[in-house]
This record gives sequence, C-alpha cells and structure tokens, in this order.
Amino acid sequence: MEDLSAVRVLRGLRGTRFSQVEVRACVASTQTLLVHEGGRDGRVVVADHQTRGRGRSGRTWSSAPGTALQFSALMRDVSPDRASLVTLAGGVAVARALQSAGAAPRLKWPNDVLLGERKVCGILGELGPAGDHVVLGVGINVSQSAPQLPREVPATSLLLDLGCAPRRDDLLVSVLRHLHTLIDAADWMDEYRSLCATLGRTVRVQLSTEELVGRAEEVRDDGALVVDGKPIVAGDVVHLRPVP
Ligand code: BTN
Repeated sequence: MEDLSAVRVLRGLRGTRFSQVEVRACVASTQTLLVHEGGRDGRVVVADHQTRGRGRSGRTWSSAPGTALQFSALMRDVSPDRASLVTLAGGVAVARALQSAGAAPRLKWPNDVLLGERKVCGILGELGPAGDHVVLGVGINVSQSAPQLPREVPATSLLLDLGCAPRRDDLLVSVLRHLHTLIDAADWMDEYRSLCATLGRTVRVQLSTEELVGRAEEVRDDGALVVDGKPIVAGDVVHLRPVP
C-alpha cells in the first residue's frame, strides 16, 4: 500500500472537484460502495484490493492485491443523457495519464484502454439508484506479471509494457486531474476519435438481442458508435482482423 498515500493524492488533487479521497486496504467493490452509499460530488474511493470487483456487462474484475489501480469517483450535476459521455471522458483521461507515463494508449469503444492490442484498463460508468449521481469506476493493470493477468481477453500491465510501474497514487492524481478538466469541457470528442482504435475496423458488436458484424464508421458527438450505418449506444465490441 506504500504507493497509495491519501496525503499525496489529496495534495495532488487540490483545486479539483475530487476533494474527498478514501484509501481502503480491502473492499468488496469501490463501485458498488459508491453507487449504493452515494456521497458528495467528488468523493473518490480507491482500494488496494477488491474481493467482488465488477466489470461491464455483469462480468467480474479481479486482480492480485497491490497490483492494480482500482478506484471509483462520484460526480453529481451530470445529466443522465451525458452520463455515457462521462465514461468516454474517463477513457480520454486515462489515455492522457498513460501518455504522460510514457505509454501509447488507444481506446476500444466505448472505453477499454489498450496498449497495442492488449487491454490495460477497464472503465465502468453507472448511475446511482436515484439517477442523481454518476459513478465512474476505473481499473488499471499496473504491476501484474504475465501470469497474474486475467485470461478472458488479451491483457497487459504498465510494468510489462513500460518495463516499470508508476506509483498508483501519482497515476490516480493524473487521471483525476484530466477528468476534472474534461467533465466541464466540450471539445474533447475529436481527441477521443483520434485515440479510438475501433474506428475503421471490422467489428463484432454484441447487442442485447442480436450480434452485428460490420465496419465501425464513426463515433458521433453523443458517443454512439456507427456500424454499417447503425448507431450503437451500448454494447460489447470485438475488433476483428480485416480478412487478408
Ligand atoms: C470492464 O472492463 O469491464 C470495466 C472494469 C472496471 C473495474 C473497476 S475497478 C474499480 C471499480 N470497482 C469495480 O468493482 N469495478 C471498477
């Protein structure tokens, strides 16, 4: 836990909306905690270890204690129709932070962060039960060795990609400072598109009732991915290799 100092994080986040930071040794899920407990705007919970970490589409998220940056941040005053944009902004914030750490991240729509073709970060955006707050959950693989990574999807860690692992508290400050700027800005969708590795690819999209295979043509300003003319607002995307 020595690279998760609450004092260091609070000092780094001075002047941002993220002024309440709680560092926990072990929780079930920072996400479940903030979605259900709520709290004031800018509350952040970061955990060294989660016993019931959650991913998108009902999947689990797990990592060995001390190896990942796992946190959730609560934001109020975000209208429900902009909540999906907050999760896209989260992807841009993580990408900027990883660029500063020396990596070359790309985004898989909506907001997996990739290094090469491997996932280094997952992001989960959810509304609280009353719809009055958004919770953004971020899990970044920091210091896992190859055998410690999940096997469901090709994954990597910053240690494996960069040869060294940044301090998790410094990474947290960097992500949240970028998020603070992005939340109130309106001009970052072009940056999202330029980071987006999905655009131009042939993709398979798992929708609630059907599967769609086609070319990812556009990410609209409202965040929807357009595949063969069809706007997709939510779904799981697989990048398919173009047929040689
Ligand atoms: C995904 O890739 O499916 C999203 C993963 C999100 C994981 C983070 S870790 C911190 C927060 N707490 C959770 O239980 N999930 C998110």
